[in-house]
Amino acid sequence: MAEYLNRIGAGLILLDAAPLSYDWVPPNIVGREDEQGQLAAMFASIGTPGMSCRAVITGNVGSGKTVLSRAFGDDLARHLAGIRNIQPVHVNCRNHPTTSQVLQRIAKALDDRHPDRGFSASEVIQGIRRNLRTRNQHMLLILDEVDVLLRRESGDLLYQLLRIDEGRDESGTLSLILISQEQVLDQLEGAIISRFGRSNHLALKPYSESQLTAIAAQRSTLSTRTGSVSESILTLIGQASADTGDARVAIELLEAAVMRAEKGGFREVESNHVQRDAASRGRVVEPSVVDELNHHEQLILLAICRRLRRDPEVTSGDAEKLYQVVCEEYEVKPRGHTTFWKYLKTLETRGLMESRTGTASAGRGRTQHITMPQSLPGQLENRLEHALNR
Ligand SMILES: Nc1ncnc2c1ncn2[C@@H]1O[C@H](COP(=O)(O)OP(=O)(O)OP(=O)(O)O)[C@@H](O)[C@H]1O
Ligand SMILES: [Mg+2]
Repeated sequence: MAEYLNRIGAGLILLDAAPLSYDWVPPNIVGREDEQGQLAAMFASIGTPGMSCRAVITGNVGSGKTVLSRAFGDDLARHLAGIRNIQPVHVNCRNHPTTSQVLQRIAKALDDRHPDRGFSASEVIQGIRRNLRTRNQHMLLILDEVDVLLRRESGDLLYQLLRIDEGRDESGTLSLILISQEQVLDQLEGAIISRFGRSNHLALKPYSESQLTAIAAQRSTLSTRTGSVSESILTLIGQASADTGDARVAIELLEAAVMRAEKGGFREVESNHVQRDAASRGRVVEPSVVDELNHHEQLILLAICRRLRRDPEVTSGDAEKLYQVVCEEYEVKPRGHTTFWKYLKTLETRGLMESRTGTASAGRGRTQHITMPQSLPGQLENRLEHALNR
């Protein structure tokens, strides 16, 4: 949806919904000063021509790996302007899980006229090298969710990237940051580990209650009217999300509370608008439950989650239309009405959603109103997208 439409409906509390979404990039990172310092130390020599640096960042879901590394790349480029020309390139390997897809992304990021096919991996790598040399750029390559690539293809690509300057009279073409939820170091072959060094590993801890409160505060300041979200509400959100340590849970609790208060016509968010119980019950949905669903059940659930992030309920008719939109996005043909209904019932039997028959459904028979009291739709949405992109 176009971002500017987020402003429609903004009123008593809400000024701009954009900062309440996960995709929104915060202007600065909250509460990770020590870790930012450690990362900077690992990159101490990057200002020197001819030098390359490396780091591995690991941490649980929602611990800020992606946002921290992207901000680092941008900050570094700005900081070193005039000293060394740093070009940050971020590739998410879950969305691009093969060597050729990753290389394609890098080549395109550096030069959007790069042809889509027709070159071998080593040709693309040498093309990337030449391109950087000609423009006198140093690439800071961030390979996010790199475990997906390693599981599929082992460390071949990493090895080639690390050796990009070998056999030439050159050095310092690229620096590398690897990101993973898991301890990838153990999966890497000896040759690669020795090039990274164990001291270049930054392990992000789950966020504490006060860090989560601060993250929620940052978003609330930028999205709501001054005074409409009190400190005690932000503390409540920090507490409710503390056992997950996941910044997304804090952000989602804030978003849901603001939306509820706004829709209810309140001038301030009140404590009962914060779905405290959903944060802890949300974890009842284990990843395996999502994996056990068939493809179309996952697509239907994804469609429902997306709507329920914003609204307390969705009708079955709307859910079917939203499902068709999701099918288009994933380039599959939607199943017919009867199958859709069957899958909807499966999702309900598995406890992933609840439905009740609407009162105003006389004409059309069986309109259902779907809710998701057991889980946080945004968290589930994230998990589904991961499963669908595998
Ligand atoms: N320290 C922080 N300051 C401000 N916002 C943050 C911070 N940490 C995380 N966030 C926000 O929380 C959300 C989740 O963070 P992020 O995507 O970086 O987590 P992640 O560790 O990469 O998770 P995953 O393992 O699922 O990829 C994002 O919207 C991000 O902007
Ligand atoms: Mg991430």
